[in-house]
Amino acid sequence: MDEKIFDLLIQLEDDLVLLYKKLSNISRFSNIKDVLEYMMKQSSGHSMHIGKIPASAKKPSFNTSAVLELHNKLKDQVFIDTVNESNTNKCLDGLSRAEEIIGELYQGIAKFYQKTGDYYYSIGSMIENLSQEEFAHRDALQKQKR
Ligand SMILES: [Fe+2]
Repeated sequence: MDEKIFDLLIQLEDDLVLLYKKLSNISRFSNIKDVLEYMMKQSSGHSMHIGKIPASAKKPSFNTSAVLELHNKLKDQVFIDTVNESNTNKCLDGLSRAEEIIGELYQGIAKFYQKTGDYYYSIGSMIENLSQEEFAHRDALQKQKR
C-alpha cells in the first residue's frame, strides 16, 4: 500500500519523541521527567505501530487492462457469431450472453469498490484507535498537575 499519510504520521510521532526527549533533559522539568519519558515511549510506540498498518491491510487492486481485453474479445466474437448466424433467435441468444458477461464484469468492479471501502474503513478504525490513545496521553499529562 502506498498511502503517504502513514509516512507523515510516522514523521510526526518521531518528531514528538524528540520533543519529549528534549523536554525531559531540561532540569526544570525534573519533577515531570517520568511522564515526559512515558510520552516519549508512547510516541515511539505509535510510530512503530503506524509503520505496521500498511502491511496489516491489503489494498484491493483491479486490472483495468484485462477489462479492455475482455471487452474487445467479447465484442469481436459476438460480431462474428451474429453476422454468421442465420437464425435470429440464436443471434439474440449470443447478444444476450454478451450483455450478461458485461453485467458480471460490472459486478466484479462493484465488488472491487466495496472491498476498497472495507479496506479504508479498517484503516480508519486503526487510526481511530490511535486517536483514543492520544486522549489517554492527554489525561496522563493532566494527572501530573499538582
Ligand atoms: Fe501521544
